[in-house]
Amino acid sequence: MSLLRNIHRFYGSSSSAVTAQSWIYAKVFKGEPTQQNFRLEREDLPALEDGDFLARADYISVDPYMRPYMMAYPEGTPMIGGQVATVLDSRNPAFPVGSAIFGQFGWRTHTVCNPAKLKTDRPYVLPDFGSLPTSLGLGVLGMPGNTAYFGLSELCEPKEGETVVVSGAAGAVGSHVGQIGKIKGCRVVGIAGSDAKCAWLKELGFDEVINYKTANVYGELKKAAPKGIDCYFDNVGGPISEAVIKQMNVYGRIAVCGTISNYNTAIEKVTDPLRQMVFKQLRMEGFLVWRWNNRWMEGIEANLRWIRDGKLQWQETVTDGFEQVPQAFMDMLKGGNTGKAVVKV
Ligand SMILES: NC(=O)c1ccc[n+]([C@@H]2O[C@H](COP(=O)([O-])OP(=O)(O)OC[C@H]3O[C@@H](n4cnc5c(N)ncnc54)[C@H](OP(=O)(O)O)[C@@H]3O)[C@@H](O)[C@H]2O)c1
Repeated sequence: MSLLRNIHRFYGSSSSAVTAQSWIYAKVFKGEPTQQNFRLEREDLPALEDGDFLARADYISVDPYMRPYMMAYPEGTPMIGGQVATVLDSRNPAFPVGSAIFGQFGWRTHTVCNPAKLKTDRPYVLPDFGSLPTSLGLGVLGMPGNTAYFGLSELCEPKEGETVVVSGAAGAVGSHVGQIGKIKGCRVVGIAGSDAKCAWLKELGFDEVINYKTANVYGELKKAAPKGIDCYFDNVGGPISEAVIKQMNVYGRIAVCGTISNYNTAIEKVTDPLRQMVFKQLRMEGFLVWRWNNRWMEGIEANLRWIRDGKLQWQETVTDGFEQVPQAFMDMLKGGNTGKAVVKV
């Protein structure tokens, strides 16, 4: 939230050669977002001062968290979010012209930024991805990748031979979590929303997959995890998580990453999990990936090594055109993406 305050502070109104386009949160979300929730605005950017750079968005991220987070902002606020951008002009030696960067600039085409004026969410130059696309800086080599890397290893602490279940399994975070589970020698079960997504997860090496839209999750889990579940990486909450938590083993660990099943709808009633937590002596911990900000590059470098070693695969669902950002966001919330949803500007 501090991000928006900071960015507004130094987008002055002085004349400039560069006009940015920006998607605005025009109307409070009610249920599923629609085009009416957004409006496009133009904004003249100020000339650069010492410490500033000008960046042009190459890829914009659309993420589930934007749906609940934006509810905290008033109508008329620019949409938040990460982007991979190219530095076009610079009066800041740490951000040279031509460098590929990640910045929390929101859904906008151009940005003038002085990182020293930001208290949090500082932009950074992307590490060298070699021949890999820079868009991965929004996915497997960015925030979702670090969410999977730190969330699974630090909170679930999976051990060889254990059973790991991940919901939202074919998305950016989920597909990555399952693959790390395999790298750690676990049996991995993924829960996702279509047969095509489940087929891809099998290609990635998941041991078992469940299509929650067509199968009885509780019954299928009994077969897929016959020895019970040691680790649950929860991306969705609601009835899917109820079915998983009832089958946890003693001393099981649950990392609560997201609750996308209720981002657009009222929270569904499920059985109180506390009884399971007591008698199975479970550990359940919610987290925000920013808690590992001080280890950010460690996660990116580890994930990059796994990609280079052929142990970690990724997929992106790329939508073309800045004008399509709201549509890409709406599609992602409905499950239209496999792997990371990004917009190529
Ligand atoms: N805690 C953190 O710091 C942090 C960081 C990043 C992400 N997250 C959370 O992690 C989760 C996944 O994020 P992501 O970026 O990787 O997104 P994603 O999984 O790539 O995309 C969202 C997916 O959610 C699934 N979905 C939508 N409605 C659903 C429902 N009612 N029940 C079950 N699944 C549903 C859809 O797949 P299906 O076709 O399978 O339904 C959709 O493709 C989200 O909950 C997000 O908020 C948390």
